Amino acid sequence: MIDAKPVLQTIALRKQYDMGKAKVEAVAGIDIMVRAGEFVALMGPSGCGKSTLLYMLGGMVAPTSGEVRIDGEDITKLSDSERTLIRRDKIGFVFQRFNLFPTLSALDNVKLAQEIQRWRNKTGRGDPNRASRLLERVGLAAKVDHKPYEMSIGEQQRVAIARALVNRPHILLADEPTGNLDTNNSARVMEVFTSLNAEFGQTMMVITHNPEVAAVAHRKIHMRDGLIVDEADAH
Ligand SMILES: Nc1ncnc2c1ncn2[C@@H]1O[C@H](COP(=O)(O)OP(=O)(O)O)[C@@H](O)[C@H]1O
Ligand SMILES: [Mg+2]
Repeated sequence: MIDAKPVLQTIALRKQYDMGKAKVEAVAGIDIMVRAGEFVALMGPSGCGKSTLLYMLGGMVAPTSGEVRIDGEDITKLSDSERTLIRRDKIGFVFQRFNLFPTLSALDNVKLAQEIQRWRNKTGRGDPNRASRLLERVGLAAKVDHKPYEMSIGEQQRVAIARALVNRPHILLADEPTGNLDTNNSARVMEVFTSLNAEFGQTMMVITHNPEVAAVAHRKIHMRDGLIVDEADAH
């Protein structure tokens, strides 16, 4: 079900962090193209620049040079507020540390993301049942009223995934979504990702060290020292 249309593309993308005299070349010139419906696993040793790349794709970190194109549009050329809109409308992000609001229930954490988008876009009422349907889909129907501290970390991660999806993002980006999870929870989270991709053609890029996650992806991109390396070079 992979469409020919590129939804995500980078051209000569670089990010250099200036740490006083030392400069860290976190992303050293990367060209990638992800097509609609693709499920890409981003792999590589710690510190090789995976998160920096993903944050640039999501418009959250500004590149030093190069382009990030979302649906053909270079988001690095946009104003901050234009970029924020694209991020909110087109991109769902799952963080390694779920970043849930501790005082809100699972349902309210997901609904909040929906409310924020509606308020910013001045659209009318969104689908009022979408948040609870998504929580059901990630296997949390019985936990909608639970607060994060009343859930396991695997459950919290699934809330974070539901939240990332509530505004029907074109592109789902996830930074080591199973990094903190045990085998069982990891498998459940992966099930959610694979079925989203298979059933709805959700385009996604997932950073992972987990070979089982990588095995279900359509394509693996290996990084080292800020660059993409061949799979053969990565071993
Ligand atoms: N905000 C930052 N400021 C300075 N250096 C950073 C920052 N974020 C990441 N780095 C550095 O950039 C490199 C790549 O980091 P990162 O993208 O987090 O790699 P990975 O996700 O593959 O572990 C590392 O050397 C890291 O220390
Ligand atoms: Mg990282």
